[in-house]
Amino acid sequence: MEKHHIEKNTVQETLIIPLYGRKVCADHYPELFEDKEAERICGMLDYDFASKRKLMESPAGLFGALEVAQRHYDLLWEIRNYLFDHPQAAVVNLGCGLDDSFNKVDNGHCHGYNIDLPEVIAIRNELLGTKERETNIACDLNDFSWMDHVDGSKGAIFFAAGVFYYFRKEDVRRLFITMAERFPGAVVVFDCCNDRGARMMRKTWLKEAGISGVEAYFSLEDENELKTWNDRFMKVSTRSYMRGYRDIYSNVNLFHKLMMVFCDRLVRMKIYKIVFKGEER
Ligand SMILES: C[S@@+](CC[C@H](N)C(=O)[O-])C[C@H]1O[C@@H](n2cnc3c(N)ncnc32)[C@H](O)[C@@H]1O
Repeated sequence: MEKHHIEKNTVQETLIIPLYGRKVCADHYPELFEDKEAERICGMLDYDFASKRKLMESPAGLFGALEVAQRHYDLLWEIRNYLFDHPQAAVVNLGCGLDDSFNKVDNGHCHGYNIDLPEVIAIRNELLGTKERETNIACDLNDFSWMDHVDGSKGAIFFAAGVFYYFRKEDVRRLFITMAERFPGAVVVFDCCNDRGARMMRKTWLKEAGISGVEAYFSLEDENELKTWNDRFMKVSTRSYMRGYRDIYSNVNLFHKLMMVFCDRLVRMKIYKIVFKGEER
C-alpha cells in the first residue's frame, strides 16, 4: 500500500506530534499507554519519523510525548464518563487528525463524528475510513456548517486535543457560544495552558518539532475567564492535565516529575470542561 505523504510546515503536520507521541509513549511506558493503533497509523505515513524520534527521545521531547499520551487518556476518560449517562450521544472529535478515540470508546450505541480540514479528512478517509455509526466531516471548524451534520438529540460530547492553540481567542469564543446555542445540554472538553505556556510552545515545541509555518495563540489563565463568556455556560471546571485523571508522578523520572510540577503551577496546563445549559422545560 502506498504511504501517505504529510506536507511539512502546515497545520496538518501538527497531527504528527500527538500521533507519534502516543506511539513513543507506548514504546517507553507500555504499562501506562498501550496504543497499537498509533503505531499502525504511523506505519502508513510517508514522513520523516527518524528525525522526530531523535527529538522525542531527548528528556524534554519525551516529556512532550508523555503530555500528549496523558491528554489522550484524560479525554477518553471524559468521553466514557459522559457516555455512561448518555449512551447514544454524539461523540465529536474537533480537529481529529488521525486520532482514533471513537474506536476506543465505542459502546455500540453512540455516534462518532470526526471533523478536520479537508486535506486531513482526505487522508483519514483513505487510511482509516469509517466504521458503523461514524462520520468524517471535512470542514474548517470556523465554518459552522459542520454543526448541521451533527445529531445532538441524544446528547453530545465535543472534545478537542491540541487544537485550539492554533486558534485566536475570539474564534474559540464564537465557536463555543454557537455550540452552546445549537447543542443545549452538551459538553465540550479540551486542553489549554496559560499565556506563558502558549509563548513557550511557539518558541520551543513547534520550533523543535521543525514546524515553522504555524502560529499558536489561544491561552487561558483559569476557568474564571470562560465563565464570563456566555450565560449558557452552565458549569465550567478544570482538572490538572498531567495528574487530574490518574497520577503518573511515581512512574516517571525526576526530570519529568519536575516538569509535571512546572506544567501544573507555572504553565497551568489543564483539561477544561464546559457544560452548556440544557433546553428550557
Ligand atoms: C495537534 S493536531 C491534533 C490532532 C488530534 N486531535 C490528536 O490529538 O491526535 C491539530 C489538528 O487540528 C486540526 N485543525 C487545526 N485548525 C483547524 C480548523 N480551523 N478546522 C479544523 N481542524 C483544524 C489540524 O488539521 C490537526 O489535525
